Amino acid sequence: MAKQAAAPHVGREQWSGQLGFLLAAIGSAVGLGNIWRFPGVAYDNGGGAFLIPYLVALLTAGVPILLLDYSFGHRYRGSAPTVFRRLGKKFEPLGWFQVAISFVIATYYTVIIVWAIRYTFFSLNLAWGDDPAAFFIGDFLQDAGATVTADVVGGIFWPMLALWVVTLAILALGVAKGIERANKIFIPLLAVLFLVLVVRALFLDGAMDGLNAFFTPNWEALADPGVWIAAYSQIFFSLSIAFGIMLTYSSYLRRRSNLVPVSYVAAFANSSFELLAGIGVFSTLGYMAFQQGIAVSELEGITGVVLSFITFPQIITMMPGGPIFGVLFFGSLTLAGFTSLLSIMQVVSAAFQEKFGLSRVQVSVLIGGLCMIISLALFSTTSSLAMLDTVDKYTNEVGVVTSAILMCLIAGVGLRKLPELQAHLNAVSTARVGAWWRILVGVVVPIALAYMLVTSVAELFSEPYGGYPWTFVNLVGWGVVGAMVLAAVVYSLIRWRRPVDDFVPDPIPGFARDSARLGGPTTPEAQR
Ligand code: ALA
Repeated sequence: MAKQAAAPHVGREQWSGQLGFLLAAIGSAVGLGNIWRFPGVAYDNGGGAFLIPYLVALLTAGVPILLLDYSFGHRYRGSAPTVFRRLGKKFEPLGWFQVAISFVIATYYTVIIVWAIRYTFFSLNLAWGDDPAAFFIGDFLQDAGATVTADVVGGIFWPMLALWVVTLAILALGVAKGIERANKIFIPLLAVLFLVLVVRALFLDGAMDGLNAFFTPNWEALADPGVWIAAYSQIFFSLSIAFGIMLTYSSYLRRRSNLVPVSYVAAFANSSFELLAGIGVFSTLGYMAFQQGIAVSELEGITGVVLSFITFPQIITMMPGGPIFGVLFFGSLTLAGFTSLLSIMQVVSAAFQEKFGLSRVQVSVLIGGLCMIISLALFSTTSSLAMLDTVDKYTNEVGVVTSAILMCLIAGVGLRKLPELQAHLNAVSTARVGAWWRILVGVVVPIALAYMLVTSVAELFSEPYGGYPWTFVNLVGWGVVGAMVLAAVVYSLIRWRRPVDDFVPDPIPGFARDSARLGGPTTPEAQR
């Protein structure tokens, strides 16, 4: 397409090709959310019936917002603050809000990866002994409960420091030489490890009972709004959408990039991996129930942290070849988490490079270093578990959902940009998106998400999340949301060190004609 776009993005980093981007996009999407979060969320929310809201959420919000992220990043060629600033000065805070969400997620995402790394090694000699719960909470985390402490746990601090240094070094190497290369190595490796794990799990005694528990629908669950909220939240976290990641990644694509089919492939790969994780985890739980002579529904500890770091170690101890199974499981968790962490931190890195004119290395040292210090201070301590649980809940259910609503409103209502973004997607892709996309992004998604947000916030105010003390959830949960909003406002007020406003998006062949026919603006600038 045309040369007329202004200079600011000349020399912008690029993926080496579409395959590199696709692997990085899949690497970002497939993460802790797929292995650590999805099976438990599905089980808690109706088992087999959860697949219905999950697929509805994927098709009505997941893919449409993924395409919105791609179209924003690719058309306006920048990090989140750059893109929203180019859409209008008053929208820049949304970009920084997304950067703040990524910054916060990175602080606790690292600690879960560190747990997975340590557990990969613990698997070799079943170091958790006879009581994995006591080992995880007591010996390993030295958990002090819902308090805020500064007592550092050495066994977490040092590996976390090492993980941060490696992550920031890869970011400093850049998009093609750092992130893309890491994904080209780790994603195929992850696919192989995980397939071996799932096949092994399917041959365990009792695996079919586990699968029945996973796939047997509890239809009543569909009437519960909480189940739908869980499905939409899972899709957002899992697809890495609405907090800057896919927007930033797509900004490094060449001009002619097949955005629409690539988004379908990435979404399909992510959901396939998620279902595979559900199948692997539930086959394994079936084995546990079989060994204990109980039904899978009678098992306890099937969610989140408990499932991965307490229940799985129990099963690994029981099964023949347990250490190998443990290495495969925790190794997969580590690889999936690491490639997602790179994408989360790239949102932060790109934003600071562009606004403050810093080099990649400077951003890695200064801003990455700050994120690392906060992450170590909050999550390598004896209060990490309750803190992580609370920060994760508020950041996703309040932060990410708010960000998604604002993105839709800015594109649809505020600027009426959807026809232009749709035309952009269609101009660069071999497959086309139709009016359905505008209807979903402009109407259905914001209404559904606004309902979800109100319901979640009402619940957070009616009872303290997780049964933690009110002071704790207010300080940590609302504190983190408040800090993200504050950061969004403050960073937007600072002057740009690199040119940002003198940017003209590429003309779209045929757009002026079609738009004029519909009575709309004929140039992108006219829509500002
Ligand atoms: N998409 C990433 C995950 O699922 C953030 O963990």
